[in-house]
Amino acid sequence: MGRGLKYDIPGEDWRRSVDEIAGSGWVPLFEGDLEASAPIVVEIGFGRGEFLLELAAKHPDTGFVGVEVSFKRVLKLARRLARSGLRNVRLVEARGQVFVAQSCPRTSVDAFWINFSDPWPKDRHAGRRIFQPAFVADLARALRPGGVVHVATDDVPYALEIAGRLEAEPGLANRFAPDRFRDEVPGRIRTAYEESWLAQGRPLHFFEYEWNEKAGQQR
Ligand SMILES: C[S@@+](CC[C@H](N)C(=O)[O-])C[C@H]1O[C@@H](n2cnc3c(N)ncnc32)[C@H](O)[C@@H]1O
Repeated sequence: MGRGLKYDIPGEDWRRSVDEIAGSGWVPLFEGDLEASAPIVVEIGFGRGEFLLELAAKHPDTGFVGVEVSFKRVLKLARRLARSGLRNVRLVEARGQVFVAQSCPRTSVDAFWINFSDPWPKDRHAGRRIFQPAFVADLARALRPGGVVHVATDDVPYALEIAGRLEAEPGLANRFAPDRFRDEVPGRIRTAYEESWLAQGRPLHFFEYEWNEKAGQQR
């Protein structure tokens, strides 16, 4: 693993595990740092983590949980987070699908952000794409009334597949309807991938789906 990778955390280590969080909910996770009623925001696949840190710095009274499958990316962000002095962010090394299914209590999350998840363009890898029906159903189940799922992708076929998956989930309602997605969202914080795709002139696709009140009553 990574020549030159630094493993020490220069301050508080905010990494937590799926198992630590599962079953106990958000309050113990942020105890001592945030009010028990603090809103909770989850970013899945944070990559370099600049988006997560900027959002967390803008909203110091909100709890942020960053989930990433890459050990190296979690370690690097844990080091940066320790130096930042932010106390409202926790990091989890896990697959987003596992985290949402096992660690997110029903009706407890105010927002999910899933920015530029890997499109896995080959047909034989289609099962690896994160936007599968079970994952989308788990997102809907975990949203609080009024909560929102934010999604971005640069990949055109993947955008159409994501649109189909989100539209098929009765627990979610499209905030951009009648558009299936938008190509820009004013005021959005840009991620590292977003900057690079914009520089290349690639089309971007943004989705915002909210907790669907009608379906939510039946859940
Ligand atoms: C294309 S990058 C985008 C990174 C960042 N969101 C951005 O927009 O700059 C996708 C990221 O998702 C992570 N990832 C891939 N599959 C994942 C999964 N199942 N759960 C959590 N993270 C995942 C990858 O390690 C990578 O950091």
